Amino acid sequence: MERTPAGEHKQRHTRNLAEWSRRPQLPDTHYVDTRVYTDPIIFREEIEKIFNRVWLPVCHESELPNPYDYRTASVAGFKPIVVVRGPDNKIRTFLNICPHRGNIIVRSPAGTLTKAEPSGNPKHMTCMFHGWQWDAFGRCAEIPREEQGYQGRVCKADVGLREIRTEVAHGGFVWVNLDDNCEPLADYIAGAFDFMSQELDTEPLEIFHYQKSVIRTNYKLWHETSREFYHDYMHYHNRATGMLQKGYFDRKYTVFPNGHAATGLTTIVYEAYEGNKDRVLTFPGMPKNGWKQVNIFPACTYSLRASCLRVSIMTPISERETLIEIRGLGLKRDTPQEREERIIDHDTIWGPFGRNLHEDLLAVQNQSIAMREGSGSKYLIMAREENSTIHDEIGLRSYFAEWTRRMGRMASDPTRLLED
Ligand code: FES
Ligand SMILES: [Fe+2]
Repeated sequence: MERTPAGEHKQRHTRNLAEWSRRPQLPDTHYVDTRVYTDPIIFREEIEKIFNRVWLPVCHESELPNPYDYRTASVAGFKPIVVVRGPDNKIRTFLNICPHRGNIIVRSPAGTLTKAEPSGNPKHMTCMFHGWQWDAFGRCAEIPREEQGYQGRVCKADVGLREIRTEVAHGGFVWVNLDDNCEPLADYIAGAFDFMSQELDTEPLEIFHYQKSVIRTNYKLWHETSREFYHDYMHYHNRATGMLQKGYFDRKYTVFPNGHAATGLTTIVYEAYEGNKDRVLTFPGMPKNGWKQVNIFPACTYSLRASCLRVSIMTPISERETLIEIRGLGLKRDTPQEREERIIDHDTIWGPFGRNLHEDLLAVQNQSIAMREGSGSKYLIMAREENSTIHDEIGLRSYFAEWTRRMGRMASDPTRLLED
């Protein structure tokens, strides 16, 4: 806006470089500097100050249903881990790195230790390189030619695996925390799952869908697509079945300590999209065609669309690459027909050819292209305030409030430290 000599306001429709570069005239909490998505130094600091210290879900208990089953994964910037169900049925997690010369120990995505490796014993994890072995409790059980080579200087007791804090909760997910001195998972979650606990924890769940891909975007951008619904404008399916329906704008966000945010229950009118159908099945306590969502800081979303639960987990690889893992879950006691129905419902929305996924992917990857270093991208505005209802951006602001607290730097200006 400019003033003419006569004192009238003249609307300008473009901005020159200085104007474009000026920070938004908004509170610090209502915009972020795009360097939080692009700076490799900030990325490394996020791994250290956030991912190495918070609870992260890594897989579901139904992926390792029997004693000696295992699942490998990576957390917090590609730290390899192996999750193992012990003979005592307890699930434990270990760093999947050999203490001898640093090889990966368990190399398959999933399986059972009851089958012996070519060079190892059953019920053990064997490193292929020199044949060291560990049991399902992470204790070293075998060092080939130990006495001849080490004469007591290195022994099995010295080379147990690094065990990682593990809890199973919130619908049977396996959560880990790399910080040995961390608070219990319940304290970290701080009640964020309370309004979904009946659905998640009344009876055992089972995974029926797993999809994994590496996308070219910062992990926060992908997570943000679950924390604001203003972009329902992009999804034709959501416009037809949600936005145009009664009650859509009443849906509320609730924010919790530690950066978590939940989106309240709404009812989806699936028939409003041609070819779509009602959800016949639900989860315990969930109304037919209901939908609710919980976002856990820093990179996990539970989305429950009546008949199926989708849990999306993001693992940052670099400032511009993110591993996304999407799991679909139903009830363990499903009949084959019920399971089939849940799979159809799930894939309609979230499968590789679903209604939403490709649109979200396109948006976040294009954001990343526009934010490349030197592109001129400066700030993202997160300033919508609508009494915490569905198009309010409180879910984004609560995320960056927590990010700022943990990083000790302002998301609106990452060169500014909190004590400044
Ligand atoms: S590196 Fe694993 S046994 Fe040598
Ligand atoms: Fe979306």
